[in-house]
Amino acid sequence: MKSISESKSILSEVMLPNQANPTGIVHGGEIMKIMDSCGGVAAMRHAKTNAVTVRVDELVFYKSIKVGQLVICEAELAFAGKTSMEVKITVKVEDLVSECSSEIALTAFFTYVALDNTGKPCPVPELIIETEEQKKTFELRKQKYLDIKKYRK
Ligand SMILES: CC(C)(COP(=O)(O)OP(=O)(O)OC[C@H]1O[C@@H](n2cnc3c(N)ncnc32)[C@H](O)[C@@H]1OP(=O)(O)O)[C@@H](O)C(=O)NCCC(=O)NCCS
Repeated sequence: MKSISESKSILSEVMLPNQANPTGIVHGGEIMKIMDSCGGVAAMRHAKTNAVTVRVDELVFYKSIKVGQLVICEAELAFAGKTSMEVKITVKVEDLVSECSSEIALTAFFTYVALDNTGKPCPVPELIIETEEQKKTFELRKQKYLDIKKYRK
């Protein structure tokens, strides 16, 4: 068993002109790539093996991100099944040249599957839930996991 805090992952990156459109707004796909990398680190830290992305749910863009701004991506496990892990990802944006505090720009849930060294799904540790908020999220995502299992059959 492993706690959520043990695998929490944070990735920060300043946005550059080659990541943006001509008006200076960063492409959504650039941020999604950072989210996938950060979520993948959390999944691999939990599973201690390779993990691949199989699904993205509830991706929401709340704020546009501009060239020169700092993107801070945070990923933590929301739910763990037998071989799959759902990771809650929050992207904050910070303007480095103003006093304003960071704001949430995107959120999503990414699902990863742990693979053994033959490329087959392999078991992951159970999650230790430590807070009321983690418990609430775990129960909600467990229901989603069970719903998805039903329609995949
Ligand atoms: C990951 C992969 C090997 C799983 O193969 P599979 O035949 O679907 O395996 P299973 O049916 O045994 O499912 C394994 C787990 O993944 C989950 N899963 C598989 N596909 C899923 C999907 N589309 N959405 C949510 N969960 C999914 C299953 O629920 C199961 O979870 P559990 O063990 O916790 O109950 C296969 O789907 C794959 O290779 N996908 C491509 C991954 C990839 O290349 N990603 C991009 C690059 S990182």
